[in-house]
Amino acid sequence: MKILMVCLGNICRSPLAQGIMEHYAPEDWVIDSAGTSGWHSDERPDTRSILTAKEHGITLDHQRSRQVTVEDFEVFDILFAMDSANYSNLIQLAPSDAAKQKVRLILNESYPGENKAVPDPYTGGQEGFTHVYELLDEAIQSFLKTH
Ligand code: 4NP
Repeated sequence: MKILMVCLGNICRSPLAQGIMEHYAPEDWVIDSAGTSGWHSDERPDTRSILTAKEHGITLDHQRSRQVTVEDFEVFDILFAMDSANYSNLIQLAPSDAAKQKVRLILNESYPGENKAVPDPYTGGQEGFTHVYELLDEAIQSFLKTH
């Protein structure tokens, strides 16, 4: 299984999603993350994401931000969007109907059909990152129960 976690900047939400999925998933799975924007390319995850992950024994040390590319639709089986804007941007970028089928909203794993968003924590405080962690942990555990 190859999974790409996608948010806007690839420094807050999707790095946490990548870290949590790497923590629980089988070792032969490929997990990566990317942003729909390239605003923070080559940067490390936000220090608040790094801290939140560390509190749960998860390291984001190996991660650097990058922008999602059209090739990602060939490489990955599933592209998980954090919110509806990420979802729409991925659908626009998808080169085929088969590629569009690979795009999912991550919180539909834990709240099927509700199309809930993982809120963007960038402009808030540390508590926003804790909330993001909890939402992602729940969604990823739900996903792994059925895969
Ligand atoms: P992310 O959060 O999409 O979860 O990585 C953001 C990071 C940076 C910005 C917005 C959201 N920004 O505007 O730079």
